[in-house]
Amino acid sequence: MRRTTCFSYAPQPKTFDRLRPMRYLVTGAAGFIGSAICHRLVAEGHDVVGFDDLSLGRIEHLAAVPEVRLEVADLRDAEAIARAAKDCDIILHQAALKSVPRSIEEPERYTDVNVLGTLNVLLAARERRTPVVFASSSSVYGDQDRFPLTEDMEPRPRSPYAASKLAGEAYCRAWWPSFGVPTVSLRYFNVYGPGQDPASEYAAVVTRFTVACLRGGRPVIYGDGEQARDFAFIDDVVEANLRAARAPEQAWGRAFNIGGGAEPTSVNRLLELIAAAHDQELGFRKALQDDGNRADEEEQTLLGSETTDRSDDRPGGIELQLAQNRIGVRRQLGVCFLEVDAVWDRHDL
Ligand SMILES: NC(=O)c1ccc[n+]([C@@H]2O[C@H](COP(=O)([O-])OP(=O)(O)OC[C@H]3O[C@@H](n4cnc5c(N)ncnc54)[C@H](O)[C@@H]3O)[C@@H](O)[C@H]2O)c1
Repeated sequence: MRRTTCFSYAPQPKTFDRLRPMRYLVTGAAGFIGSAICHRLVAEGHDVVGFDDLSLGRIEHLAAVPEVRLEVADLRDAEAIARAAKDCDIILHQAALKSVPRSIEEPERYTDVNVLGTLNVLLAARERRTPVVFASSSSVYGDQDRFPLTEDMEPRPRSPYAASKLAGEAYCRAWWPSFGVPTVSLRYFNVYGPGQDPASEYAAVVTRFTVACLRGGRPVIYGDGEQARDFAFIDDVVEANLRAARAPEQAWGRAFNIGGGAEPTSVNRLLELIAAAHDQELGFRKALQDDGNRADEEEQTLLGSETTDRSDDRPGGIELQLAQNRIGVRRQLGVCFLEVDAVWDRHDL
């Protein structure tokens, strides 16, 4: 019997029994991040209810974890989410529409799914005061004058997508004082790692560079390659979710950065690191210098003017150590994991 029948939300100590089995609801369970969370939870012996309308996610992501009970339904269906949340101890809310350009084309739909869908999740959490971890985004920062980005900066969303994430954060924040529902928002920076489709327009450049490298591809950098961004490794994002779900009271209602850290590294440097990690430094340099423009489309990894337009909504820098530690599929915990603690320390937790 894995699941627990009750859950107390008296302030919890920072150390907790991570092995205590619980029942989790994971929305967006068939997506990149949601499915990684499901794998981890099942491996730890928890009961997992997945919720996904399969609009973007793929059921194959959950093929190796048949233990997950998947509810195929839409976040906008309040009754469906309430049913799925019934008897769950923790909700990890990952489901969303996440295309910045499409959010500009369809702001109403993005608001419906990302804001009203999040409201439905929070309403479902209200009765039992079930803790909710909300997948927010670094896009809430928008244009900022200084780096690194810290949680105390005024958010300046530049797209309906970013605005929808900020609205979700605001609802999460209100749910603690209003209803005693513990919530934590996690502002993911570009997430990368195994399970991410490198062909996806949203794939973090680390995934695309790495896959190109493994296939002997020839990444192409457009622009000067000196633009810097911040990234989060998928295992660290999963870990951050599990920690946030059991964070101490001082964290409730707050938002936290989940990314590499404060020291920006240019994409030129990132590419060097990835190439070096795969003993392909020369090949990459040659492709970049000599025939980048002729590289096979499938093998290209684009960065620069083309992707800058898209990535402008997810600003940041990248810490050198992250790239060194997180190339390919290495799976030890590291920078992002530590960053979560550092952030919480900043808030005197
Ligand atoms: N991947 C990143 O780099 C990144 C960065 C910042 C924030 N995020 C946030 O993290 C979360 C997960 O991202 P991901 O990369 O796994 O995305 P994803 O597209 O792989 O997963 C999202 C899942 O939500 C599901 N979904 C969408 N609309 C739904 C609806 N109306 N009802 C039910 N399910 C619905 C999709 O089918 C999909 O499986 C999202 O909230 C996203 O905004 C991701």
